Amino acid sequence: MKLLIDDADIEKIRKIYEFYAIDGVTTNPSILAKSGRKPYEVLREIRDLLGEDAELHVQVVSSKADDMVKEGKKIVEKLGKNTYVKIPTVPEGLKAMRILHNEGYKITATAIYTPLQAYLAAKAGANYAAPYVNRIDNLGTNGIEVTRKIHDIFENNGFKTEILAASFKNSLQVLELCEYGVGAATVAPDIIEGFINNTTNVQAAVQDFTDDFEKLCGEGKTMLNCD
Ligand code: G3P
Repeated sequence: MKLLIDDADIEKIRKIYEFYAIDGVTTNPSILAKSGRKPYEVLREIRDLLGEDAELHVQVVSSKADDMVKEGKKIVEKLGKNTYVKIPTVPEGLKAMRILHNEGYKITATAIYTPLQAYLAAKAGANYAAPYVNRIDNLGTNGIEVTRKIHDIFENNGFKTEILAASFKNSLQVLELCEYGVGAATVAPDIIEGFINNTTNVQAAVQDFTDDFEKLCGEGKTMLNCD
């Protein structure tokens, strides 16, 4: 399962990128609004930080297919080849996906709440379909189950479309999809940090190793200077 960051805060992205193997960044209009900055200015900074090979997913805002197509082309022109045009999975969006797909653009079908919506996105040529796990949970339906069902639909029908699971509230939701082997998950920085930072037992074990070694060789000593 690929792991992407669902945020546009450059400092948070930089910090996560320094320590963990990350495959890219996703944004949406609400995430960009939180930055309070000009969208292309923020996105250019993110692209420069990621390099040209990482995935950057950027959403169109128009509501008509023709305008979505124009927006998608401008997004890719400004942010480079590995930029995925995120398009909401509504009828106008599905039309835009088909047009952009036929012209060779990479598409992420977003705002997916049901398996049949994902099926239509795959038919339209989307590279990724993004089910909103936690938002589906909040409707009283199981977001993990919906996402698994979408995974099975893609596998059983030979679609090349991958899942890019989004909208996570906690690491258990990410873990369950990782176990199932979905294509990708995009996760907020604080949840990614929680994959490892909340493990007091691990920290205690590492501290024990350091203490024992220092008893043997002296304070501050490591395998670099214990000859
Ligand atoms: O990009 C869409 C998705 O990540 C939304 O997440 O946390 O706003 O439900 P959230």
